[in-house]
Formats: sequence, structure tokens, C-alpha cells
Amino acid sequence: MKFFVDTAMLSEIEWAMGIGCDGVTTNPSLIKKAVDALKANGENVDMMSYIRKICETAGRCRDVSLEVVSLESEKMIKEAVVLYNKFNILANNVVVKIPVSTASTSHYEGLKAMSALQRKQIPVNATLVFTPEQALMCGKLGAKYVSPFAGRIDDMLRSKSGIVFDKSEYFPEQGIRMDDNGIVSGIDLVRKTVAILKNYGMKTEVIAASLRNARQVREAALAGAHVATIPFNVLEEMTKHPKTAEGVMAFAKDVVPEYRAIFD
Ligand code: E4P
Repeated sequence: MKFFVDTAMLSEIEWAMGIGCDGVTTNPSLIKKAVDALKANGENVDMMSYIRKICETAGRCRDVSLEVVSLESEKMIKEAVVLYNKFNILANNVVVKIPVSTASTSHYEGLKAMSALQRKQIPVNATLVFTPEQALMCGKLGAKYVSPFAGRIDDMLRSKSGIVFDKSEYFPEQGIRMDDNGIVSGIDLVRKTVAILKNYGMKTEVIAASLRNARQVREAALAGAHVATIPFNVLEEMTKHPKTAEGVMAFAKDVVPEYRAIFD
């Protein structure tokens, strides 16, 4: 399974690449968070050079997803070309994120854009995927990735059930007796998406997105997702276990001077 880091914060991207992550996903909200942090730090925001740094920090063969901002296909295509032409030259790693469907004039704008981008050979990450059918449509249009948003499905199901929750809380894969047109959890969405694309031998890779905790990453891996895009705090959470910490402390205490001397 590939791990992408789900952030636009350069420091987090650097850290994630240092521990072997395979790529980066951003979206306009994550870019906003990074820009707000820069501004709060009194720094100038030069978006062109900031995105350049993201692409260079990720480096070759580590895909960086950058999202379009318009809702009409013609504009999305133009923006995708801009993103690709401006930034792919640096490390050959730009993938353009296109929402599968938009709430604008027609619901087909994203798919129309994907179709055009396939002809232009610009790689696409189909985003805001909430059903396996949406993913199948994007797969047929040659999307490099589809991103089912696991956590947001869980949020929706909990809200529908009237459950008060914290987004980072574990949500059971088997659901809570509430479904969204047959999808019982975010991981169920990921599992069904993976299975359907596999049925038809599609090359499109599934990115389990909107992941909120380490256990959800585990379940996405069990479901066969090709990629998990993981927020920085969840990557950290994944490294931890109290018995690991306890073992490290105990071993540190037992180091005899004779053994330590080897390293002098
Ligand atoms: C990544 O591609 C998505 O944009 C991201 O995982 C969304 O996460 P969120 O639902 O926590 O905002």
C-alpha cells in the first residue's frame, strides 16, 4: 500500500517524505490552512513558489495532487492545464484533482473535464467520490486515481443517526444500522470501490481519503485500497503503541556501559 500525506503544510510534507511516504494530496481547504499558517507567522504568501516547493519536496515519482477550483468543465480543463504546465516540469509528479460531480449547471462537468484530460494525457485524481458508481464512471474515463472519502461518509451516517461524535473517533466498518444507499461505512465504500474496479481489470488506483485515525488506515489496507492518504496527526498516531514506548524505556534502562562503549 502506498501512503500519501494529506496536507499542504511544507513542514509536514518534508517530515512525511523523510519516513517514506509516496506522495501528497492537497485540496483548497488544506491550501487555506497552510496559507493561514504562513500569514499567522507574518510570512509572505507566494503561492507559485510555495506549490513549487511542495512538488520539489515530494520529488520524482511521488505524486502531488493539486485541485482545480472551478465548477464548469471548460474552466476545470483550463485550470488543470495551468497546474500541469506550471508545476509538472519540476518533478514530473503533478496529478490534477477533479471533483467527480458538481452542483453547478450540470452534474457532468467533472466527468467532461476528466474525459478531456484523458485525451491530453494529464493524470487525474477523481475527488469527492461517495459511491462506487461514481468511481466506476471515473475509472472508465481513465482516471489515475479515485478518492472515496471514507471519513465524511462516517460523519454523515453518525449525523443521520443523531450521534454526537468527534471526527477522529473510530467508526465501525460494519456500520451502525444506518446506510447511505447501501453503503454502511467509509471503509465499506472503499472496499466496494476496490472490488468493483478489480472486477473489470481497471488500472485506476483507489486512494482511501478523508481518513481520521490509524485503525481506519488498517481497515483501508485490509479492503485493498492501493493508497491511503493520511493526515499528519494520523501518521504520527500510526507509529505509537504504549507497549512500544514501554519496551524502549526498558531497553534503554538495561544498556550496560560495556555495550554503550561500542558506539563511542
Ligand atoms: C484528500 O484527497 C481529501 O481531500 C481529504 O482526505 C479530505 O479529508 P477531510 O474529509 O478530512 O477534509
